[in-house]
Amino acid sequence: MFRRNLLSIADLTNDEIEEIFELADAAEKLGADKVAGGRIMATLFYEPSTRTRLSFESAMHRLGGSVISCSDMKSSSTAKGETVADTAKVVSSYADVLVVRHYWDGAVQAMAEHAGVSVINAGDGSHEHPSQTLCDLYTLKQEKGRLKGLTVVICGDLKNGRTIHSLVYALARFGASVVTLAANGMELPQYVLERLEREYDYTLAPVATGDLKAVVTETDALYLTPKQPHQLALFTQLDPGLQTRLDTIVSGLRYDAFYMTRKQKERMKEGTAGNSYPTIGSEFLREQRFKNTVVMHPLPRVDELSPEVDKDRRGIYFKQAAYGVPVRMALLKFLFAQNDTKRAGVKKLPTWFESPETLGPQCANPNCITVTEPASARRKFDFLAGGPGGALILRCLYCDHRIKVQLVGHVKSKRYCAYDIALSDTIKDWFENKELAIFDSIKAAEEIGYEPYKSGPQRNIMDETAIENAVRDIARQILRDCDDPDRLLVLGIRSKGSYLAQRIAAELAAAQKRKIEIGEIEIYGSGDEIRRLFRAEPEAGPLNLKDREIVLVDDVIYTGRTVKNALDIIFRSARPKSVRLAVLIDRGHREVPVKPNYVGKHIPSSERERVRVKLREAEHDEKDKVVIYSIISPVEQQVGGLG
Ligand code: CP
Repeated sequence: MFRRNLLSIADLTNDEIEEIFELADAAEKLGADKVAGGRIMATLFYEPSTRTRLSFESAMHRLGGSVISCSDMKSSSTAKGETVADTAKVVSSYADVLVVRHYWDGAVQAMAEHAGVSVINAGDGSHEHPSQTLCDLYTLKQEKGRLKGLTVVICGDLKNGRTIHSLVYALARFGASVVTLAANGMELPQYVLERLEREYDYTLAPVATGDLKAVVTETDALYLTPKQPHQLALFTQLDPGLQTRLDTIVSGLRYDAFYMTRKQKERMKEGTAGNSYPTIGSEFLREQRFKNTVVMHPLPRVDELSPEVDKDRRGIYFKQAAYGVPVRMALLKFLFAQNDTKRAGVKKLPTWFESPETLGPQCANPNCITVTEPASARRKFDFLAGGPGGALILRCLYCDHRIKVQLVGHVKSKRYCAYDIALSDTIKDWFENKELAIFDSIKAAEEIGYEPYKSGPQRNIMDETAIENAVRDIARQILRDCDDPDRLLVLGIRSKGSYLAQRIAAELAAAQKRKIEIGEIEIYGSGDEIRRLFRAEPEAGPLNLKDREIVLVDDVIYTGRTVKNALDIIFRSARPKSVRLAVLIDRGHREVPVKPNYVGKHIPSSERERVRVKLREAEHDEKDKVVIYSIISPVEQQVGGLG
């Protein structure tokens, strides 16, 4: 059945937004005609709300419809562990439209995929809040008579403010200019800037606060503008001459609106909220050049917007909140009408990448639904070709975050290699034939049996005796550094790290004449990420990491990302006394600042070489050894016929 959702502001064209505004102008008539008579709206709010939920509910009542509501999902079966996917399936059989707010980015989209009815995003994590943007644009248009050519200064927490993200895309589309005034460390996220540039041809130039200091404190300004006609905005490195010219542009701007936002403390880790934050009081209203600058705020406000401004005609935020009802009446009418006319083909379905293998790329946003509740959302990505240096970029379909493709694999031949621009045609063929795998790390590729494309002879660089000696030496050093052997916990990174962890623990146990606890970290899975290595010890209960002296073990350290992921998992789960890192091989080429404490052997290798640790436990009939060989791209392999 055809149905329209509003998950992102991108789900509506500019014409459709204008159509909704016309309907909002006629809200009284929509109410009189009872255009939602006989329909039911369900509001599911996993986060608190005053305006969004109540204005949606008021809108539905005014349209003659009915409302069922879960204003606090803690009182729903979510508290018993029900997934968003199941909740959506169930509630969509009770209602004709779902209005959902959730703390995870992309959760509302996941619900839309499982619901049989239209779903409206009432705010998902830090991602988007499109119906708020409709209210914001409608308010601006009511006040200023137009959107094109306006200059809107967006202030405050631009990183976590979902209202801001939807708003800047919309302003860009309607031809408005945006000046950003972010609190320190709360600038617009990179993925938002990239989307502005890629989809709306907006780019940015940093400019000094200069004259803006009159209204805000301790912040920097960015000026976002369409590439045409302001070519100056292409320059992001400021020299003194350019600085002066940009200052002139900015100080010459007529600011049509200040859009203030509160600090989204609920999305910040404890202790990172900081103190510095821009504020707006009545002071700035005195400046002549702001005489027609309106002050907006999606509300609630905390202390960034003084109540003094309430009395001023330019403080229009309560009007903005009041427009929530006619605008949402219009939105509901629009969606119902669209569904009723079964208008198809409004939005072309994207051809996204979904890993054909059990392991595939993972979204880099830890708050993305694909990470927090993979049972509700399989990882899906858009391809964005042409990143810096010809990089292949994946855009998460749920939260918009981007990742750079590092390793690609061929499903049929079970081979992998590093991505290179020379491979772009080959990759396209593989993708079209559903033969493309993408991996975050060599470890992930090899975990499911992929081999590298390789050429030339393979050299042994460690034999069985060398590996045995290295393990013994690492164990000796661990004991030398250990403060309290009772607190020692050896944690292997699955799977070869786990085999080595067992060997190291056996050496430690022999030297100490006591049992050493061993665990395993699964960096690709979800849920049971840290576990005891031997399931035969269920009576021992879950592993306790708090205050432990952890030795993290892996076979090879290369970029360091695997270790970083493992550290993230450890520190998410508990606060150990210390974590030390033991690796059999350190081959350099680090991308993150991780340095192992214990190394069996340093092997400076080129990026085209592959070092492989072969252990009896994994290879069964092979002896322990470490080998090195060159890897090539599939294109080279086709030309040279190497295997
Ligand atoms: N603007 C807004 O989303 O307000 P609520 O959080 O009160 O819904």
